[in-house]
Amino acid sequence: MLKRIKYVSRFAQLLSAEEIVQLAGNASEKNHRLDVTGILMSSGGMFFQILEGPPKAVEELWAAIERDPRHTDVLLLSSEEGIERRLFPDWGMGAIDLDAQADDRLEPLKAILTAILAQRRSMEELSGVLERAVWREPAGIARS
Ligand SMILES: Cc1cc2nc3c(=O)[nH]c(=O)nc-3n(C[C@H](O)[C@H](O)[C@H](O)COP(=O)(O)O)c2cc1C
Repeated sequence: MLKRIKYVSRFAQLLSAEEIVQLAGNASEKNHRLDVTGILMSSGGMFFQILEGPPKAVEELWAAIERDPRHTDVLLLSSEEGIERRLFPDWGMGAIDLDAQADDRLEPLKAILTAILAQRRSMEELSGVLERAVWREPAGIARS
């Protein structure tokens, strides 16, 4: 049984197309060794990645990726266990730099990434509102 993780993050600083290619190349090599597959998509200063493989390998990789200073605001979107089949069986780490390609077929993918980013912003804003609302509640609010 396999494990699959999906997350989004923001570039910590501007990364060139070459740097992204290099990052994905190194990732691909290591993933092959670990029997991990997936995709790494980037656009507008944002990453979206899917990692799938043996649970232990995916967890170790995730721990390293989460700490990587090249990106920030890493948000886990989902973590699924007990997966039987891979979504990307042939890709050690297929990298798609959406901003480096002038292909109309990729436009919908960019729109989806932009929508994820917008949703994420509103989630962060709403959780801020929730926090402040709790703070403003009178001291009598029930606590457990
Ligand atoms: C957005 C992003 C995605 C990454 N994806 C992978 C990956 O799929 N596989 C991988 O081995 N490293 C990936 N890395 C790099 C890891 O964070 C880490 O640098 C690497 O696993 C360290 O390997 P080493 O300890 O063998 O040198 C990624 C880094 C970033 C910023």
